[in-house]
Amino acid sequence: MKILACGTGESKSKDPPMADSTSSLSRYYLTTPIYYVNARPHLGHAYSTIVCDAIARRKRALGVETWFLTGTDEHGQKIERSAKQAGCTPQEFATRIAGEFRGLWDRLGLTYDDFIRTTEERHKRGVQKLFATLRDRGFIYKGSYTGQYCVSDEAWVDVAPGAPCPDCGRITETVSEENYFFKLSAFERKLLEFYEAHPEFMGPESTRREVISFVRSGLKDLSISRTSISWGIPVPGDEKHVIYVWLDALANYITALGYGSDDAADQAKFQKFWPADMHLIGKEISRFHCVYWPAFLMAAGIEPPRSVRANGWLLFDQGKMSKSRGNIVRAETVHEVLGADALRYFLLREIPFGQDGNFSFDALVQRYNGDLANGYGNLVSRVVNMVHKYFGGVAPEAGTQTQAEAALRASTENAIAAFGPQFEELNFSESLKSLWLLVAETDGYLTANAPWKKPAERDENEHQRLQARVLATAAEAIRVITALVYPILPDAAAKVWRQLGQGEIADASKQRFLKDLTWGGLRAGTKFGEPAPLFPRAEKDAVERMQSLEEQNNRTVIEAASEGETVSPGPATASPSVVPTTTTRIEDVRANEGLTQTSVVPHDASKPQETAHVHAVPAEMASSRLSAPAAPEGAPAASSVTSEPAHISIDDFVKVDLRVAQILVAERVPKADKLLRLEVDLGYEKRQILAGIAQHYEPEKLIGRKIVIVANLAPRKMRGLESNGMLLAASLEDGAPVLAGFLEEVPLGARLK
Ligand code: MSP
Repeated sequence: MKILACGTGESKSKDPPMADSTSSLSRYYLTTPIYYVNARPHLGHAYSTIVCDAIARRKRALGVETWFLTGTDEHGQKIERSAKQAGCTPQEFATRIAGEFRGLWDRLGLTYDDFIRTTEERHKRGVQKLFATLRDRGFIYKGSYTGQYCVSDEAWVDVAPGAPCPDCGRITETVSEENYFFKLSAFERKLLEFYEAHPEFMGPESTRREVISFVRSGLKDLSISRTSISWGIPVPGDEKHVIYVWLDALANYITALGYGSDDAADQAKFQKFWPADMHLIGKEISRFHCVYWPAFLMAAGIEPPRSVRANGWLLFDQGKMSKSRGNIVRAETVHEVLGADALRYFLLREIPFGQDGNFSFDALVQRYNGDLANGYGNLVSRVVNMVHKYFGGVAPEAGTQTQAEAALRASTENAIAAFGPQFEELNFSESLKSLWLLVAETDGYLTANAPWKKPAERDENEHQRLQARVLATAAEAIRVITALVYPILPDAAAKVWRQLGQGEIADASKQRFLKDLTWGGLRAGTKFGEPAPLFPRAEKDAVERMQSLEEQNNRTVIEAASEGETVSPGPATASPSVVPTTTTRIEDVRANEGLTQTSVVPHDASKPQETAHVHAVPAEMASSRLSAPAAPEGAPAASSVTSEPAHISIDDFVKVDLRVAQILVAERVPKADKLLRLEVDLGYEKRQILAGIAQHYEPEKLIGRKIVIVANLAPRKMRGLESNGMLLAASLEDGAPVLAGFLEEVPLGARLK
């Protein structure tokens, strides 16, 4: 059983490399975005981290001193609210989810050099120093502000009160406070000049255009502190303010290098690795990275990063994979069934970097079987087995080349020359496509020369010479392919390296083997390792296995909620869990919304997506004596309960999170007779709920009414809209609902016990 608990987490950063006089070209600093800890990691998060890992591995194998940073973004209103809902402190909550991220990255074999958490002391110290520096240099002033804030994006947005966020469509909140402001307006011209002088600063082109047009449309000063929330880093000298979460988060890229520390080793590390060579980010956070971040740095007198590159979104069922849409797939599922290399290959080969890409289990299995099992894997197996069969496992002497060998050698040399630049351009898909042409060509060369078949007219010696020439040449082509593909398929490449008698690929990487990669590295007489399968063909049921792993996870949570079990929030699998700590209570698990969302919840991309916290109504709830008015239109009516229900324990009851909420907005859903769309306020957050009460309640009369909702149900989508919770109502004989309410005054968010 997968276990998750609130506990303490510590950060383990490696010792920094010592500063030396190497030029900036011989070191490379790259970063992933730091992930919010309001939900467990899904494939969308794994995507950026895997891309960075591939880049870091290639850089290291080229002999470039590389520093690869990832981490978690742990402050802000969103996390504060998620923790409150989970009944944890924000610190406990953050520690638990940060452990999930880090555990998953380790399990996937990702080679980050440092994992920063924004709740660490080293980070807080650096953020406060950055704030103080900005203030000392005259770029911060105090003012009062009323504006709309999108909690989900942790961003100020320029919309009318009550209007949705233009980026994510979720309801914004009006915030009126005394804040500190950053003079962003002073950087409009400077930023445009900077973009002009550094065309390589941001990409792809669509991101560059968007950012430039945003800056050209005029920059307003930015509110960079909050007084109404406490989960953040205090403003130095004015502790009732906490620093805006994006200023806090962006600073991770320098605090992780030691910015703000008095320690000489930290300072040396900062000197050595800053400016970053690349921040790899998701396209929706370009504005923060390409506008705010360089402006903060310029204001602080620090050089901006060299480049920011935005990846597109991973879509599932045509919508951005995200917990709030209920369409996530977890990396663990793919890892469990096909392995980490298969996931890496698929993500880098299938999705042209910078574009959105659809994830589907079918496409994944097709790629796996076509390119890995039948392609590269089969080629390696044929050659290694034949070297064992015909040459006792010792690499033969190639002898005199014919035209066929010269052609394969030329193609291999072309592949070496082409792969690097394509990879550097982040054109992973094309680089792999070209390399797989070489896989196919090597395969074709083998088949055309058929070293396993001796025609009657060929004498024995001549046949042996042909076998030696063909197998030595094919093995050499495989060696080069394996070296090039190592950053993308590290596990498979390590196996092939051993089979070719080359030893440990990790050692070769330390020896900068990619830097000197040329034809002819496989010496005659090298003892090959034992053949071992690389990519066993995926059986027909691989897709169903992955789907059922996802569904099982979903079910585990829902069933446990009604059966009083502790549950496993991790993959439904027999393999070791990601974070082996202690048992988890269902409330803790529920708080990780990512758990309850899978491909089983259909997603309608053509309809607007509205809210963040959306919970499905499990069937067992719909048939309870408390009716479920939110049953979707067209769904079978809740069966009337005739038999006495079994007793439940108090522990079972407390798992249902019943809360007082107030209806802010109520309106009919077009083309759905029974449905009302409600926006309700829980005091600690606002949500959208769809309720099947339209035939019994006039929407206008509901506004302002206090009701009871089940706050911890899994999300559900109806008519393309997400519903996050369920209203409680008595069910009359004719099925008419009567909403539960109170005679006394009750505060919003109060829990019913
Ligand atoms: N905490 C901020 C980033 C701060 S960086 C200083 C944040 N966190 S996030 O968890 O919401 O997103 C982290 C990254 O994951 C973003 O780059 C985002 O684009 C990426 N992804 C989340 N879902 C994704 C997909 N479905 N597809 C691809 N990337 C996605 O934003």
